Amino acid sequence: MNLIKSKKRVADHGEVFTPPWLVEKMLDLVQGETERIDARFLEPACGSGNFLVPILQRKLAAVEVKFGKSDFEKRHYALAGLMCCYGIELLDDNIAECRANMLEVFAEYLGLNEASDLYRAASFVLSLNLIHGDAMTMRDTDGSPIAVVEWGYLGKGKFQRRDFRLDVLTGMASFSAEGSLFASLGKHEIFTPTRVYSPVTVNELAQFANGETGEAA
Ligand SMILES: C[S@@+](CC[C@H](N)C(=O)[O-])C[C@H]1O[C@@H](n2cnc3c(N)ncnc32)[C@H](O)[C@@H]1O
Repeated sequence: MNLIKSKKRVADHGEVFTPPWLVEKMLDLVQGETERIDARFLEPACGSGNFLVPILQRKLAAVEVKFGKSDFEKRHYALAGLMCCYGIELLDDNIAECRANMLEVFAEYLGLNEASDLYRAASFVLSLNLIHGDAMTMRDTDGSPIAVVEWGYLGKGKFQRRDFRLDVLTGMASFSAEGSLFASLGKHEIFTPTRVYSPVTVNELAQFANGETGEAA
């Protein structure tokens, strides 16, 4: 495996990929979390998915163990696992590769073809969760503040979406830190979503992949 694409990209963007054996060792340090379907991971310099792809694979292995016997549960919990994987990447070719690599693993696990609703729903989720932007300035390529979509699986085939600003979410950690003046404030008082959507099904998510937008709740 090539760990660099070009010397120029290494110099310009620090683009040196982590070898798979090292990725696995690092993920083993948080093995319990990687095997928890709803544990959220954000890779702020995700490249083409050297960490996110094996994280997804571990989540899908957990889905198989827990829900492999029910097709309905397996499909929905696999999507819920995908929804918990986030990445930010500066370079357009890397973010496109990352989305494609994640989608390929997801589709292969469930045996999906490109026309299926679940494939298109997953593609829509990845278009939001894998962000083309700058993790340092927390702005996307349009210069807008990066939005992070929080997904929740409500059961019975329904998913909840709430949007937050990344800069606000990262601020939350310092507000909650022990000794902070603001530690006693309820997070809900300050950190509210920028938008809350009505619960949606896989079929509705697939429609959004065609450019339709979700209605705010
Ligand atoms: C060292 S590579 C690591 C890629 C992957 N995480 C891995 O370990 O294989 C760093 C990646 O971060 C991207 N990058 C550099 N600066 C960035 C920034 N400010 N925001 C988002 N991505 C950035 C680069 O384009 C490159 O793909």
